[in-house]
Amino acid sequence: MQRAAHTALYDWSQIVGPAVIRRCLKCRATLQQSSRAFSVIPPPRDSEEKEMLDRILRVDHAGEYGASRIYAGQMAVLGRTRTGPLIQEMWDQEKKHLEKFNEILAENRIRPTALLPLWNIAGFVLGASTALLGKEGAMACTVAVEESISEHYNSQIRALMEKDPERYTELLKIIKEFRDDEMDHHDTGLEHDAETLPGYWLLKNAIQLGCKAAIYVSQRV
Ligand SMILES: [Fe+2]
Ligand SMILES: [Fe+2]
Repeated sequence: MQRAAHTALYDWSQIVGPAVIRRCLKCRATLQQSSRAFSVIPPPRDSEEKEMLDRILRVDHAGEYGASRIYAGQMAVLGRTRTGPLIQEMWDQEKKHLEKFNEILAENRIRPTALLPLWNIAGFVLGASTALLGKEGAMACTVAVEESISEHYNSQIRALMEKDPERYTELLKIIKEFRDDEMDHHDTGLEHDAETLPGYWLLKNAIQLGCKAAIYVSQRV
């Protein structure tokens, strides 16, 4: 490791295997760190990569936040019924997902979407109102939302794999793990009679249209 006389201005980094090589812009001195200097995402190479990662993490955080609020709404209505523990279990997983994205956002100084207050209310209202239709209503909502989130995660996985699977190993690991959890939630909904709800397909399509709109704006605002 070389030391510069001035305060080093490490402007860019290069990941070489498990090491991170950072180079000072003023004197070109390099600083090699033996382990990765990041836990989930690499220091962005340029503004384009930063924008891409910001967008991915912002929308994922918003999605997990919304999902957590949906389960909160379902619990407010069905918490004391026989379905309560099942919903609680899925909610607990959403809380873990959200916590992880909270962590990543803070670590990388990425601001969350400005629409969190809206997702707070919209998520809770969606969860509570579908739960008022009964257990089947809540499960239909779960199937619709979780299918949308899984598809969304799958498209992110595809995009990151196409770009550079090595570089985004850690992020891919997290997204894949969460995607699997969402698929489990989706299957749980189906196993608990989601499809027996009258108007199931109509409700499912309406909710998924809402999810698409939410994903679109959360990436941008
Ligand atoms: Fe989740
Ligand atoms: Fe989920």
